[in-house]
Amino acid sequence: LIVQGIAYINNTLFERVSIFIDEDSGKIIDIKVGYNIQASDKVIDVTKNRYRILPGFIDLHVHLRDLAYSYKEDYYTGTGAAAKGGIVLVCDMPNTKPPTNTLDNLKLKVNKARSKALVDYGLYYGSPKDTRELKYVTNHIVGFKFYPEDIFTYFDKNVFGEVANKAANNDLLLVFHAEDPRLFNQRAPPGLERTDIAEYSAIDNIINITRNLLRHKVKIHITHISSAKSLQLLLKTKKQYYNEFEVTWDVTPHHILLDNTMYRINAGLYKVYPTLKTRYDNMRLYLALLNNEVDAITTDHAPHSLNEKMRPYNEACPGYPGLETVVSLLLTMVNKDLLSLESVVRYYSYNPARILNLKGLYGVISKGAYASLTIVDLKAEWKVKAEDFVSKAKYSPFEGWSLQGKPYLTMVRGKIVFHDNMLYGELRGWGKNVRELAKTKS
Ligand code: DOR
Ligand code: ZN
Repeated sequence: LIVQGIAYINNTLFERVSIFIDEDSGKIIDIKVGYNIQASDKVIDVTKNRYRILPGFIDLHVHLRDLAYSYKEDYYTGTGAAAKGGIVLVCDMPNTKPPTNTLDNLKLKVNKARSKALVDYGLYYGSPKDTRELKYVTNHIVGFKFYPEDIFTYFDKNVFGEVANKAANNDLLLVFHAEDPRLFNQRAPPGLERTDIAEYSAIDNIINITRNLLRHKVKIHITHISSAKSLQLLLKTKKQYYNEFEVTWDVTPHHILLDNTMYRINAGLYKVYPTLKTRYDNMRLYLALLNNEVDAITTDHAPHSLNEKMRPYNEACPGYPGLETVVSLLLTMVNKDLLSLESVVRYYSYNPARILNLKGLYGVISKGAYASLTIVDLKAEWKVKAEDFVSKAKYSPFEGWSLQGKPYLTMVRGKIVFHDNMLYGELRGWGKNVRELAKTKS
């Protein structure tokens, strides 16, 4: 199989590239400049100037739900939304029902995902109920996720040291949702129940806990930072402690593009945690993208039923689906000269692969890497219409937005899972657990 067109290789756009793919291993076996094909070759021709062949996008933070929450989303609709959105690998959060914090519960998810996924996925484990189970768990997960409640209760028990140790020895990520529950104020108006101070305080605590407990190199990742204050603290931390531990962080499109005035329009619909902050915070985080002051972009794809969103603020579920809008939102910024295509690839493909220790396999177009590619059409224009989402969550904070740039083809390890507005649903089950894939070295 050969893909030919304008491709993004080693931080550079190359025109007239032929990418040779071995369909058995799903890997790239050769890359040549020029279009020299044999009559017998199977070719995907995207040589028109509007297309770009990119390393497949990777999302470090999504909620695919399933199990008792399958009415919100399941592994097929969630990874289908990813495929349509141009994303080849998604990392799935543990706050499900039942929660992914025991071996038995993890097995439920491992099996469900195996039979339904269309794109590759990683699974996170929550705060473990029993650390003795961890040795059976590590081969199936990409990391641990800690929620605000965990940080200020669970951590005191010193179990965190054990988890962190396991993580460090098994190349697993420690991901934190940073908002300090001690500073929440449920009586405040929409959005102000959790402020930037709460986020700042949580990050400060996480850093102190990490420093006190760890003598070895460990990686922590703060997900979906939403404020200028938090960014400042993380930049300072990175400088100060770079030889003690590695800290990375990500931002979401909604924390860059939406501010807290949206709550006046429809508070329940825009409800999300961390909360939307000020226009100033939006702009500071956007500036961070320009300055290479963040490591990754994530969606925090958090689907709920429409009925769970159309409620008064205090009763509405927090979060939005993001997988089917993220790439177009970013490409629209590229088309407006507000962002480079290079940085989109860095934050949503190359860096996430590096953070997951999958460098060389994902996040690059190179010999030996998986042929997991996203081909985008830079010119396609469309209007967000959540009704048409593959995701079960038929609402969007970006409803009605006019976007330019769209995923055109998504390939996962040599197989097309989405092409020209068509989802290849018959490939359900093709998506693999990246951790298990890495173990079965080909
Ligand atoms: O907005 C959010 N939605 N924030 C969270 O912390 C959880 C998530 C969800 O699972 O719906
Ligand atoms: Zn989340």
